Amino acid sequence: MSLFNHISALCSLLLAFNSVAVQAATLFTGGTVVSWSNATNSLEIIRNGSVLVEGSTITAIYTGAPPNPLPSNLTVVNSTNDIISTGFIDTHRHSWQTAFKTLGSNTTLLEYFSRYGSGSPAQSVFTPEDVYLGQLLGYYEALNAGVTTIVDYAHSMWSTEHAYAAVRGMTESGVRGVFAYQLADYRNFTWNASVGTFRRLADDENAFNLRVDLGVAYDGYSRTGGDAEKRSSDVLNLARQHNVSLLTTHANGGVYGSPNSPEEIHRLGFLNQSQIPWIFAHASYISIQSQQLLRQTNHYISITPESEMHYGHDHPTSHLIQDQASLGVDTHFTFSTDILTQARIWLQHVRQTLYRDVVQRQKLPANNPMSVTQAFLLATRNGALALHRTDIGILAPAAKADLIIWNGRSPSMLGWSDPIAAIMLHASISDIKHVMVDGVFKKRDGRLVVEGYEELQDRFLESVKRIQRVWGDMSRPVLQGISAAGVGFDRTVEVDVVRGEGMG
Ligand SMILES: *[C@@H]1O[C@H](CO)[C@@H](O)[C@H](O)[C@H]1NC(C)=O
Ligand SMILES: *[C@@H]1O[C@H](CO)[C@@H](O)[C@H](O)[C@H]1NC(C)=O
Ligand SMILES: *[C@@H]1O[C@H](CO)[C@@H](O)[C@H](O)[C@H]1NC(C)=O
Ligand SMILES: *[C@@H]1O[C@H](CO)[C@@H](O)[C@H](O)[C@H]1NC(C)=O
Ligand SMILES: *[C@@H]1O[C@H](CO)[C@@H](O)[C@H](O)[C@H]1NC(C)=O
Ligand SMILES: *[C@@H]1O[C@H](CO)[C@@H](O)[C@H](O)[C@H]1NC(C)=O
Ligand SMILES: *[C@@H]1O[C@H](CO)[C@@H](O)[C@H](O)[C@H]1NC(C)=O
Ligand SMILES: *[C@@H]1O[C@H](CO)[C@@H](O)[C@H](O)[C@H]1NC(C)=O
Ligand SMILES: *[C@@H]1O[C@H](CO)[C@@H](O)[C@H](O)[C@H]1NC(C)=O
Ligand SMILES: [Zn+2]
Repeated sequence: MSLFNHISALCSLLLAFNSVAVQAATLFTGGTVVSWSNATNSLEIIRNGSVLVEGSTITAIYTGAPPNPLPSNLTVVNSTNDIISTGFIDTHRHSWQTAFKTLGSNTTLLEYFSRYGSGSPAQSVFTPEDVYLGQLLGYYEALNAGVTTIVDYAHSMWSTEHAYAAVRGMTESGVRGVFAYQLADYRNFTWNASVGTFRRLADDENAFNLRVDLGVAYDGYSRTGGDAEKRSSDVLNLARQHNVSLLTTHANGGVYGSPNSPEEIHRLGFLNQSQIPWIFAHASYISIQSQQLLRQTNHYISITPESEMHYGHDHPTSHLIQDQASLGVDTHFTFSTDILTQARIWLQHVRQTLYRDVVQRQKLPANNPMSVTQAFLLATRNGALALHRTDIGILAPAAKADLIIWNGRSPSMLGWSDPIAAIMLHASISDIKHVMVDGVFKKRDGRLVVEGYEELQDRFLESVKRIQRVWGDMSRPVLQGISAAGVGFDRTVEVDVVRGEGMG
């Protein structure tokens, strides 16, 4: 090294120490960009496009020559042949349950409640550390799959320590979203204690960060008698006092009871009074009146297609309110964690449902009832609108930098011309090269960007081993008698794919 080199190296070292750090910027170049146009209120495909991210925001999308001058501290990512889209939005999930993975492969909803739900033995077996690891590793699983925003229906709030552990899992993961704290009454954590911890979290400036907001989850709006009415109004007053970002409830309905429907919330005087968005999870049996209320008051449902098929919710009406609908995953320990699969299953399900209408009238379908664009918007922009946000769920200047870069030359994608069809019907998680949330890479070149991920995996697997051993020894509930909703049980036909006697 010459003297000159020594001096210049020293100079840049001094410069680096003296100057204020320039915010990081990333330029994705030469890709096919699935952007959103405010002007036309629709998706706009930009070929050979580039996306400039500065700090946590998308600052430019362009074709051809880059804007002048480009930021100094710039990482250029050559995205030639690739597809650049916004990240997916999941409006209903229970992230603490990750350690149950594969245990519920053939469960039913009533068995789920007693074995794996918030009121199950989990409340005495899961430690705060188990909850923290379940949340964190569950979010990594989602981020790897391109889910960049999550509404966590947090129903492992069994103590102050469990609540804090769950919040920490969410803030540390780097995902965007709402932590919807479930108010409830547990054996060891009374209603008053639950309310107390909620207030403490809401007032704790260090508990949350710029990506994660506090919301309120509650399932008791349909209950009557005793403290029920008072509790509903307590929940709504708490939400208002603390100006939370979201109210959410399980609107099961049908034979499952607990409708928690928009009509019921409206009767409580709360659907049209506050600016707080509502998300009604499932809402499979949503009535015409409730659909109208959602449109008039601009609230949304969260359709969780795979969950609703797995557990038997059915979908008699939810396909009729897709203009006020978003998508969710729900219990990711039982099936796919990705919103892409949810959108694909839902798209084909809706097609089947609406085709059936025509073929049962003995006519030939003359059109296709739902496009890939509709499914893509349901999985992205509608999730943002459910949160009353216009800065996420779209790829546009001034939006948050939550992005997915898809490998346009993967074996399954090769040959595409329509990028939305390529994503919705051909892509899989393994085609996701990079994922960025808030301007930060969470997945890079096909791998999660997580410091110490292997040690975390080991810690999580210890927790899994202990928990799955307990559940392995646990007897299964016998489903008989009359459910809490006043409905009896009946058996389904069970299929057998092996010829011969009996079930395999
Ligand atoms: C450039 O951005 C990185 C973050 O990616 C930051 O650590 C670094 O300090 C920045 N460099 C300068 C010179 O500002
Ligand atoms: C697009 O519209 C949304 C909602 O009105 C607004 O928040 C956003 O700033 C607009 N973006 C641009 C680039 O005009
Ligand atoms: C893409 O745009 C760049 C920059 O304008 C240009 O150099 C390049 O030739 C274009 N590529 C294609 C395939 O059009
Ligand atoms: C970007 O990638 C394409 C495809 O791999 C390659 O042909 C091109 O040379 C690369 N451009 C730069 C500037 O490295
Ligand atoms: C259902 O799944 C559980 C757990 O994986 C398994 O032990 C059980 O044998 C399965 N039952 C049937 C009927 O497949
Ligand atoms: C309640 O707390 C007691 C004492 O800590 C514990 O033994 C018991 O398992 C807990 N019960 C539940 C349902 O968590
Ligand atoms: C719960 O709190 C309310 C109001 O602070 C109080 O009136 C009630 O007695 C408390 N209940 C229990 C079981 O501590
Ligand atoms: C409540 O929060 C929203 C955004 O989350 C904000 O726009 C509004 O001003 C807040 N209202 C009050 C009364 O603080
Ligand atoms: C909700 O409130 C708005 C204005 O306050 C009113 O125009 C609208 O009719 C109300 N809708 C319902 C369903 O009450
Ligand atoms: Zn749920």
